[in-house]
Amino acid sequence: MQRILITGGAGFIGSNLVHNLLESRPDVEIVNLDLLTYSGNAKNLEDLSSPERHHFVHGDICDHALVIRIMEKYQIDTIIHLAAESHVDRSIHNPGNFVHTNLVGTFELLEAARAYWIENERIPTSEVRFHHVSTDEVYGTLAPDDPAFAETNRLLPNSPYAATKAGSDHLVRAYGHTYGLPYLVTNCSNNYGPRQFPEKLIPLVIGRARRGETIPIYGDGGQIRDWLYVDDHCRAIQLVIEEGQVGHTYNIGGNVQITNLELVKQICSLLDELLPKSPWNPHSQLITFVPDRPGHDRRYAIDMSKIESLLGWMPKETLESGLRRTIRWYLENNEWLDAIENRETYSDWMEKNYGQRKGEV
Ligand code: NAD
Ligand code: DAU
Repeated sequence: MQRILITGGAGFIGSNLVHNLLESRPDVEIVNLDLLTYSGNAKNLEDLSSPERHHFVHGDICDHALVIRIMEKYQIDTIIHLAAESHVDRSIHNPGNFVHTNLVGTFELLEAARAYWIENERIPTSEVRFHHVSTDEVYGTLAPDDPAFAETNRLLPNSPYAATKAGSDHLVRAYGHTYGLPYLVTNCSNNYGPRQFPEKLIPLVIGRARRGETIPIYGDGGQIRDWLYVDDHCRAIQLVIEEGQVGHTYNIGGNVQITNLELVKQICSLLDELLPKSPWNPHSQLITFVPDRPGHDRRYAIDMSKIESLLGWMPKETLESGLRRTIRWYLENNEWLDAIENRETYSDWMEKNYGQRKGEV
């Protein structure tokens, strides 16, 4: 049995990873440590295929003693670290939370791994892995003709979120270099799919369009992102843990580069098709340009030749097939979206982030 500690496993990517691992790997037992912040959701962990191999712990990655207790109790040999503050716009309003969770939290987790695996030698280091899930945003932004981000690019983060993720990447690498911690880092592009909190573009658009609410596009909508279906990302993480070279970084992308405006138009067309009786058809009429995000990165693109050539990984989902699956999931799980959208904290966030943009709609 591989005994994995997943942090942030009630969030979007983490919960998809828990579902995928339990389904595809009968030889894993998972401990899921999550603080259930606004983006963590216990509902994301309903209907697991093998709940007896999943142990949920409601707690904080910054709680060193708790992490040590978990590692000892379950003899953890693998950590997959996803817990984070993850939304760029929130990092602009409140960067302190990001410094605390993404930097201090990663530090505390590394300290626990160092104490349990390296200092106390509880499990041979050849058998342990610390997998850090990071983002392409650490590389900064690209001009239209720049080559895509490679693993060798300098880290040039632009938002408080990206800066704290870059800092956590550095910490992980330093623990490998200084203490011999066997680590792997993956830097991936924008994920989308089921169970994503509707502050991020794709579920936000679906959630608002189905109610006939305006779809806010920042600036001119010409920013480019590389969209990665979450199941493809989960497969890549498993592969890197199993076959990746310790101390290496792997970039993961979806092989899709598209402007925000084109993406949103594509979502609207799919909604027109899937909701033919909607009074809001065509949904593209809801598109509204609003003032831009401060410091908005213009373009991300992933050079994934390393993971492709060394580990044979490629995304399976096209944008069209991934969007179809995603939109269907949200339409079939209306109550999942409703429950979040009806929270007072969600309307507070919408007012905080979009309220001041209204005047210029
Ligand atoms: P998310 O916001 O949906 O989930 C984050 C989870 O972490 C939540 O369940 C939350 O409760 C938990 N959490 C937050 N603080 C915690 C703490 N102190 N202790 C324990 N748990 C805590 O985020 P996501 O989109 O699933 O992203 C997961 C990871 O992947 C993050 O590290 C993010 O930086 C990275 N990433 C995300 C994307 C993306 O497009 N979503 C792309 C690249 C990298
Ligand atoms: O690139 C990886 C990153 O992708 C992850 O590290 C982050 O955790 C994740 O949140 C995501 O960051 P982005 O800022 O790219 O994602 P977001 O969904 O917030 O926005 C996608 C694009 O859409 C971005 O250019 C901003 C734009 N946007 C976003 C929102 C919420 C809009 O135009 N309107 C909006 O209302």
